[in-house]
Amino acid sequence: MTSFGQSPDGHEARLYTLENSNGFRAEITDYGGIIVRLFARDRKGRLGDVVLGFDTLAGYVAQSPYFGCIIGRVGNRIANGQFTLNGQTYTLAKNNRPGGIPCHLHGGMRGFDKVWWDAEPFTNADGGGLRLRYQSKDGEEGYPGNLDVSVTYLVTGDDALRIDYEAQTDRATPVNLTNHSYFNLAGEGAPPVLGHALTLNASAYTPVNAGLIPRGEITPVENTPFDFRAPHTIGDRIDRPHEQLRFAGGYDHNFALDARDGAPAIAATVLEPQSGRLLEVLTTEPGVQFYSGNFLTGMLAGKNGHVYPRRGGFCLETQHFPDSPNQPDFPPVILQPGATLHSTTVYRFSTR
Ligand code: GLA
Repeated sequence: MTSFGQSPDGHEARLYTLENSNGFRAEITDYGGIIVRLFARDRKGRLGDVVLGFDTLAGYVAQSPYFGCIIGRVGNRIANGQFTLNGQTYTLAKNNRPGGIPCHLHGGMRGFDKVWWDAEPFTNADGGGLRLRYQSKDGEEGYPGNLDVSVTYLVTGDDALRIDYEAQTDRATPVNLTNHSYFNLAGEGAPPVLGHALTLNASAYTPVNAGLIPRGEITPVENTPFDFRAPHTIGDRIDRPHEQLRFAGGYDHNFALDARDGAPAIAATVLEPQSGRLLEVLTTEPGVQFYSGNFLTGMLAGKNGHVYPRRGGFCLETQHFPDSPNQPDFPPVILQPGATLHSTTVYRFSTR
């Protein structure tokens, strides 16, 4: 464990290294539970950092577009920053306005990406782990109930980073947790990810309105630029004159994953042909938000002096569907007192 710098309010951030015997390694800080670096081998065995981010805590505190962090209490958007639960209407911060339409995004002004987590490193037979805990107070960011959250990162022997989420509450509340890593499998700082070949195990997606809020339908991807059931490069169809791509400036959509049975199952695979790096994403979640980094503007000075261009990284945010608290036909996200939320996502690396 090393220091990752001090926040403006004098809090010392810590950086933990989790690794296995192959040299696969993750560096994670207790501020926002952020994956700061993730080193995976290419076809020639060279390690490269495949996630976007900043060299120091200051970058994350100042201006991060959610690089690498834990997202909660409710990931993605809630229409108009409002939902009703058990007859009571809750009003949340409207901290985002795509298309000029205000909404709540990623848990609010100070979501789980901006809080300090209690960190407990451990090692087991697989490799290194880090258990992060946070208690979100009743009323925090407008949500009901005291919520105890635990997020466990584990580096395993097969070059995977496994993330186990758990949560318990003392009042019914919506909960939808994810991680917001931006990947570039050619290495952070490499040109846009348009040449990465993506496969998504999803026959349907949830189209959005101009404010990037799901319209409510779960629509087949067949014959659309959203059909990634066979591999397509991210860039192949991204600039087609399609209303959905226009609203988001590219991909920024939730895909409804096929065939879930409770165990982590393959949601996505991504191959970067030059390096040969292959990322497989497995999850127990019903959905994945595929975001092609359209809002990166080429303005952020990231790690190693790299300026990240538009679409310089992609996210695969495993989760329940966006705006679920307002969408009766989506899988429910309400956690009840006495119940425990369990969710697992695995980011596994290999080469081709
Ligand atoms: C998610 C959203 C995007 C964007 C990013 C963060 O992926 O769906 O619209 O807000 O987070 O910039």
